[in-house]
This record gives sequence, structure tokens and C-alpha cells, in this order.
Amino acid sequence: MYIVLLEGKVAIIVGSGSGIGKAAARLLASEGAAVMLADIDPEGARKVEEEIRGNGGRAATVQADMTKEEDAQKMVQAALEQFGRVDILVNVAGGSQGRFIRERLGPFAESTREEWDRILDVNLNGARNCTRAVINHMLERGSGKIINMSSMAGVSGAPNAVDYSAAKAGLIGFTKALAQEMAPHGIQVNSISPGGVYTERLQAVMERHKREGAQRTFDVSKLSTPEEIARIILFLASADVKNLNGINIEVHGSRR
Ligand SMILES: NC(=O)c1ccc[n+]([C@@H]2O[C@H](COP(=O)([O-])OP(=O)(O)OC[C@H]3O[C@@H](n4cnc5c(N)ncnc54)[C@H](O)[C@@H]3O)[C@@H](O)[C@H]2O)c1
Repeated sequence: MYIVLLEGKVAIIVGSGSGIGKAAARLLASEGAAVMLADIDPEGARKVEEEIRGNGGRAATVQADMTKEEDAQKMVQAALEQFGRVDILVNVAGGSQGRFIRERLGPFAESTREEWDRILDVNLNGARNCTRAVINHMLERGSGKIINMSSMAGVSGAPNAVDYSAAKAGLIGFTKALAQEMAPHGIQVNSISPGGVYTERLQAVMERHKREGAQRTFDVSKLSTPEEIARIILFLASADVKNLNGINIEVHGSRR
């Protein structure tokens, strides 16, 4: 017998228009969850929505910039209106470089305060905003799962991405502290720290490295796939294990 893991559950996935968020939306929907796709760029998310609906799943899209508190509130409201409840929040949106973030990494000695603020906004404050917007609903219901997408940069640090490393380390601290505060209320908060993940965004970075004749780039054979990270999201979203809380799952093989 095949068990559908998330039947009747509702998940908000922030940053579901591409990469890991897209893979997570597809997988959670295929396991029975209704998914609210949230993204600053709704075009990609709408395509995912159509695909999920075409496969008989439940999905809707809301445009939201998670760095804006009012957008985060609007996103949660849209999920409640559309699906009546929220069981799972996955904060995926973020990154060290790419569209809506910045063009490329650079040395700390050349960095600006504006860049620092932007990177912390996208990779830490955004998850805070979305979590804050949903937390009272979860507290009222006495259940919920929150999954934050950190990075190995937040665990080990990454050169030329000091701001990103600091933001992702902050996200792990946020996860661990909130997990302790929420444990008595039936809410679990965990994070995932991938090393490199072979997303469209990383492919674009690698193509640029090639064009520019960069000495170092990523070794594709060692990268995770977005689908693999989505499986870990599904595990955290579906595991009925109350003490799986405040955990940061590192996904880097044996490399740091
Ligand atoms: N790809 C990797 O190698 C890798 C490694 C470690 C961690 N991560 C983390 O995983 C997450 C997803 O990475 P990805 O490679 O899948 O990224 P991606 O760029 O493919 O997807 C990110 C999505 O988030 C959306 N987004 C960006 N800013 C937003 C905002 N302010 N509000 C709402 N949506 C916004 C984008 O439009 C995009 O659809 C990020 O947090 C990233 O830091 C990625």
C-alpha cells in the first residue's frame, strides 16, 4: 500500500519559482499537500502551479517579497483564504548571488554596507518575517513545521561570501532558538544546510565562470540535486517525531 505522507496538509513554500523551492513544491504536492507558492517573481511559480494542478494536485500562487513584512502577512492570509490552514512553512528563498540578490560574490574588503544589508534581508530577515506572519496561527492550532534553508556557508563559512555566511549562520541560530521556544506548543523548527546544489542559478554561475576563464568552479559530480534537498524537506515536513526539533541537517557528503 502506498501511503500519501501529507494528505490534508497545507504548505507555504517561499521561493518556489525555481531551484530547490520548485522541487520542494512539486514533491510536497505529489504527497498530497496543498501548496501556496510564494515568490518575488510569480512567473516561475505560476508555471509550477499549473504543473501541479495538471497532475491533479492543489496549488495557488502569491507574489511576495519576503523581505517585506506586509508581503509575508499577505502571503499567509492568501494561504488561509485559499486552503483554510497552514501546517508547514518552508523558507527557501535566498542565495548569495542571482536575480533579486546581487550579481556576484566579492571580497569583504570591497564590500558595502548596502550589500551587507541586502544579503541579511534576503537570507535572514525574510525567514523571520514569514515565520512571524504564520506563528500565531500555528500556536493557536498547537502544531506546525517550519523548515529554513540555510547553507554550509553558515556552518563552515565561505570566502567572498562573508555576509551570506553570517546570514545563514544567523538562520541556524534563529532555527535553534525558536525550536526551543516552540517545542512546548507542538511546533517544530528545523533547518537544512546544503553544500552546492545543481540548480538553474548555480548552472548560470558556472557558465559565467567558464566564460570568464575562472580557475575554480563547482564539480557537478559532487553537487546535490534540488530533488534530493526536496526529499529532506519532505522528511522534515512529514516526520511524526516531536523531538526532531532544532536540528540543522548538513548535506555535503564528506566535504566542508
Ligand atoms: N543552490 C545552491 O548551491 C545552494 C546551496 C546552499 C544553500 N542554498 C540555499 O537554498 C535556497 C534556494 O537556492 P536555489 O539555488 O534553489 O535558488 P534559486 O535562485 O533557484 O531560487 C530562489 C527563488 O527565490 C525567489 N526569491 C528571491 N528573492 C526573494 C524574495 N525576496 N522574496 C521571495 N522570493 C524570492 C527567486 O525568485 C527564486 O524563484 C537559498 O536560500 C540558498 O541560499 C542553495
